[in-house]
Amino acid sequence: MPPNINLANRINKYLPADLVTFLNTIGEGAAKQGQNLYLVGGAVRDMLLGLSHTDLDLVVEGDAIKMAQSLGLNNIKIATYQTFGTANIKWNHWSVDLATARSEIYTKPGALPEVTPSTINRDLFRRDFTINAMAVSLHPDSYGELIDPYHGSSDLKNKLICVLHENSFIDDATRIWRAIRYEQRLGFDIEPNTLHLLKRDIDMLDTISGDRIRHELELVLKEKLPEKAIHRADELAVLVKLNSALSGNSWLADKFNRARETVTSDSSLSIIYMALLVYRFDSDTLTQLAVSLRLTKALTHILKDTIKLRDKLPALTKPDETSSEVYFTLNSYLALAIVANSIATDSTAIERHIENYISRLSHIRPRLNGDDLKKLGITQGTEIKYLLRLLHVAKLNGNVITKQGEVRLVNNWLRKKQANNEQ
Ligand code: CTP
Repeated sequence: MPPNINLANRINKYLPADLVTFLNTIGEGAAKQGQNLYLVGGAVRDMLLGLSHTDLDLVVEGDAIKMAQSLGLNNIKIATYQTFGTANIKWNHWSVDLATARSEIYTKPGALPEVTPSTINRDLFRRDFTINAMAVSLHPDSYGELIDPYHGSSDLKNKLICVLHENSFIDDATRIWRAIRYEQRLGFDIEPNTLHLLKRDIDMLDTISGDRIRHELELVLKEKLPEKAIHRADELAVLVKLNSALSGNSWLADKFNRARETVTSDSSLSIIYMALLVYRFDSDTLTQLAVSLRLTKALTHILKDTIKLRDKLPALTKPDETSSEVYFTLNSYLALAIVANSIATDSTAIERHIENYISRLSHIRPRLNGDDLKKLGITQGTEIKYLLRLLHVAKLNGNVITKQGEVRLVNNWLRKKQANNEQ
């Protein structure tokens, strides 16, 4: 890419018109205050790749918080974070992050860096990879100009993920996961020396907190084809750092594919991916992972339920299992744990039983309730409970269909009970 390349046309092409107006306005506002504002990171990278990226990061050579507060734009919401010198601007349905250009010094691997205000070039130098270390000027006098001191655009052309310096993974080992994610998402290669450093510094992952590692895993699971990054992480001995029982094999790839065909909501899909990742775990290993990644209680519950149900499923291997047996095997488990098992099982019979449960059996209930049974003369709680279950089983198995049928079943039971009492 030649010097002085201008991306103004690409900004117009790859960003929605209202975001372009926003960038113009905020660039002019900063200039009036004598400050230079830049678009940085993923949006610049993706623009050069011909992709839209609306999650914008801006950097100002000046005070980001003061600048955000003095913009004087209508209908915006500003949140400021004094510790990091950053602000978040919410406007329409967009969210834009604004940071002060800064240098970072890492006093300890994995810890948050010490930060001092700096220039755009120094700010770009602190970033993860050359392809993420480019900026575009938003100053009216140089609007659209690409700033690429570390040859990110050339690495983009050569499809390479390349760190900016030897200590990059030591400073921040989450970059190991990020390198794998970008490599697999973009179909790039990790550049040979970067790969050497990544392998050298794998143990630096031990310096990263559970929360930050979990966040990286969540980002992987948001990718279009997360199985690719997981497979690569397995190959590079990075996955084992999460837990030695994890594997990114072809079984997982096949099941992730099925999950995408089956599950439509993004949030449910991430949970199902997690359930498939831990599907072969025993209970203790799952607890270990939940603790080390600080998984939420709700997610841990779903994962535990998934493997508990997995251990119950051999009861449903017969294709002609009764509907009531299917219902009562599955009904005490969480819905997503059931879905995860229908995807994970390698038995067609079990898969069919679960499909039948989800689409039909789980909705079947007797028409009579406890009050109806009392009106029919059943007074004892235990008998009511027994009869409701009897009705439910009969209904599930198609032995009664109508309300009259249910009443007949109860009356027959009462008659038998009386006859027994008279004997
Ligand atoms: N960054 C970094 N080191 C990290 C995380 C982020 O240097 N550990 C920098 C990179 O310059 C990155 C920018 O911060 O481009 C924004 O990070 P993020 O929002 O996580 O990624 P994007 O680049 O926007 O890319 P994507 O969301 O597509 O992964």
